[in-house]
Amino acid sequence: MRALIAAGGHATRLRPITYTINKHIIPLANKPMIFNAIEKLAGVGVKEIFINVNPGEQEMQRYVGDGSEWGVKIHYIEQSGGPKGLAHIIKNAEPYLRGEPFIFYLGDNIILGSLQRFVERFERDGLDCLLAFARVKDPSRFGVAVIENGKLIRVEEKPINPKSDLAQTGIYLYNDSIFDAVNKIEPSSRGEYEISDANTYLITSGRRVGWEEITGWWKDTGKPEDLLEGNQLLLDEFITTSKNDAMVGPDVVIQGRVSIGKGTVIWDNVLIRGPVIIGENAVIKNSYIGPYSSIGNNCTIENTEIEHSIVLEHANINADTRIVDSIIGKNAIIRSAKSSLPLGHKLVVGDNSQVEI
Ligand code: DAU
Repeated sequence: MRALIAAGGHATRLRPITYTINKHIIPLANKPMIFNAIEKLAGVGVKEIFINVNPGEQEMQRYVGDGSEWGVKIHYIEQSGGPKGLAHIIKNAEPYLRGEPFIFYLGDNIILGSLQRFVERFERDGLDCLLAFARVKDPSRFGVAVIENGKLIRVEEKPINPKSDLAQTGIYLYNDSIFDAVNKIEPSSRGEYEISDANTYLITSGRRVGWEEITGWWKDTGKPEDLLEGNQLLLDEFITTSKNDAMVGPDVVIQGRVSIGKGTVIWDNVLIRGPVIIGENAVIKNSYIGPYSSIGNNCTIENTEIEHSIVLEHANINADTRIVDSIIGKNAIIRSAKSSLPLGHKLVVGDNSQVEI
């Protein structure tokens, strides 16, 4: 099997972070989000992966490379005309994918379990399409399964009145019949070629469409709070205690699972309570780093309490206060309001930022 990863799109809900970084490269537990997708695909023996990117994209290629790190071959496909919907990604990639079944994977989805079960079911039952659903509290945000008498009869995209709590996740297995579907459907009222419409087309035209429910966790990282939750899930699962050759002073207390990168210096009254990951060459001084925090490479954190947050590389924080549930971009500077006169909050906040003071 081959694979197609969706890694273009607008990512408007994650601005301003996504003004300067492709959403799929935002680190969760200090690892670009898309690495999780590649690992899952490599884990079921996929050897060739096509990554759909926006026209002109270059950053993704720099971060991900040719795939040799995972033992796969990675090619990049620009989505012609830009983001026009998930079914359009498949339409656009048809010349590369025809002739062999493939896994279509949304690069902003993270899941805990393996894809093995889905691949086996797809092959064993000779399916044309296999969809993975998960039960959610807010189905209106997703493609939603309509099931009648135990049978999947269609998938409705972001319905106002969802007919079930089964959301279509970002994992789809297809054979060549999907190309017929994506070429038949019309853009939806929001102007996108919807993957739900393509899936419905397969069902109503009599193709063999199966579905499975994801039982472990699954997260679509569309909004800032989803990123924080995705970070939390990954830290919970995968962080093990490691200190590399970091310099940890005698008055530093480390509780729980904490991974510290090489070259990092931690000293002078610090408490770190895991699960936490701290990257390379960071400096942490007189601070508390609480559970579910990911601190990137080359960050400096002094006189601050931080918890349940993602701090990207080269951020410099000396806040004299407590920061929670936050995403702090590359090279951001956060200072105590008391460090200069007049007192008060002094902000240089980018477009579409959110601040709670
Ligand atoms: O996450 C699951 C949901 O993903 C499904 O339940 C929905 O049925 C499906 O339409 C999709 O909904 P989203 O609103 O979450 O899709 P989003 O626009 O966020 O795009 C998903 C991924 O695909 C994201 O990584 C960006 C990328 N993308 C998106 C579009 C529209 C592209 O690469 N090109 C595109 O044209």
